[in-house]
Amino acid sequence: MNNLKNLRGTVDLLPVQLIKWQNVEKILFEQLARASINEIRTPILEMTELFIRGIGEGTDVVSKEMYTFVDRGDRSCTLRPEGTASVARALIQNQILSNHPIQKLWYMGPMFRYERPQAGRQRQFHQLGVEFIGYDSVRSDVEIIALAWDILSKLGIKELNLEINTLGDTKDRANFQKSFLKWLEINKDSLDLDSQNRITKNPLRILDSKNFQTKKALKNAPRLFDFLSEKSHSRYSDLKKQLDFLKIPYVENFNLVRGLDYYTHTAFEITSGALGSQATVCGGGRYDDLIKQMGGPNTPAIGFAIGLERLILLAGKELEVPRNTDIYIINQGLIAESLAMDLSRKLRNYDLIVELDLSGATFSKQFKKANKLKSKSIIVMGDNEAAKREFLIRLFDQSGDENKEEVISFDNDIKLENWINKNLLAN
Ligand code: HAM
Repeated sequence: MNNLKNLRGTVDLLPVQLIKWQNVEKILFEQLARASINEIRTPILEMTELFIRGIGEGTDVVSKEMYTFVDRGDRSCTLRPEGTASVARALIQNQILSNHPIQKLWYMGPMFRYERPQAGRQRQFHQLGVEFIGYDSVRSDVEIIALAWDILSKLGIKELNLEINTLGDTKDRANFQKSFLKWLEINKDSLDLDSQNRITKNPLRILDSKNFQTKKALKNAPRLFDFLSEKSHSRYSDLKKQLDFLKIPYVENFNLVRGLDYYTHTAFEITSGALGSQATVCGGGRYDDLIKQMGGPNTPAIGFAIGLERLILLAGKELEVPRNTDIYIINQGLIAESLAMDLSRKLRNYDLIVELDLSGATFSKQFKKANKLKSKSIIVMGDNEAAKREFLIRLFDQSGDENKEEVISFDNDIKLENWINKNLLAN
């Protein structure tokens, strides 16, 4: 057993780390509920074909990063690298769109990409995704961007930068691609090798190359922006106007093309200066053609996904604090132990965190444990108390000094409830 390890790029999330995850998730769930968005859960494992058709064969995700295998039934399966294609498939397959053409959905869970692991980049990572299905107005673009922005702000994340771009529609991009390909043929030698390889596979992606030499050469390349139709232009300026109105600061980045093929019009990313090289915490955009391309009805849509590992790195230390135990039950002796068990079940119905000490250790050891846990209060039940069917309940203050205490009969629920309301639930 001693050589068994987890796979590279995957991590165990241990209880101490999960306190922060759970606190962050709680805030996320509240924000999503407040924005009236419903959850959807799709399988982690899908047919490989879904991602080839949905994300695009020439993308890095599909061509280099997928965890693909043939199952025992000879089907090619893939661990999902993202959630948008799965959501689109689920809506089409379950014929949801004919009765509910407009949907606001979210999902959260593990995604898999075979990338080189580093801080903020894993092979199994987690995303919170939000998809607005059936929405085509610029207002829905603004709502989606504002939602992502507000979620990150609500978590107290600083140094956020929003970058936006427009990719136009399919026709705009085809027009641009013609002249971009001509330029690429002539200027091939000024590009890095990776970008040269992309010319035939996925030329648009060359635009967001991080290579210095390529970036310099691209300054003289044709710009997608100049090939946009009148309609696409006005859509984009509307978006900027509405973001200005909401005072959401943004930077335009004409080279932002995103790594997945399904995008049309609005594309955006939110980065944080507080992260290292993997600075993008949120990425998203519009995908008006995806659902139709996958065999569904013509359905415009827009969405984003937040990388949870990066979000956790950015979220503040205050979210690492666990909720304290409300009542720690110190108990010893045969009858006392049974009564204490009964009492712990009753107390949990009051929405309190109750820990029943099961150690059978001495009172003083159990006291120490309660103190260490910073329990807000303790109940003491020994055989003396048990014989009288009563227990002692005592409040600890912040410093661990005991103050208010009371003896309550095991059968006096009203007195117990009053004590809890006054001392534990009042604030
Ligand atoms: P994406 O940009 O590929 O978009 O991923 C979204 C976010 O997931 C990234 O910004 C990053 O925070 C996180 N992420 C991606 N790869 C990794 C990794 N290897 N390790 C850790 N975090 C990672 C999408 O996936 C689209 N489905 C978003 C979308 C939804 N567009 C429209 N709707």
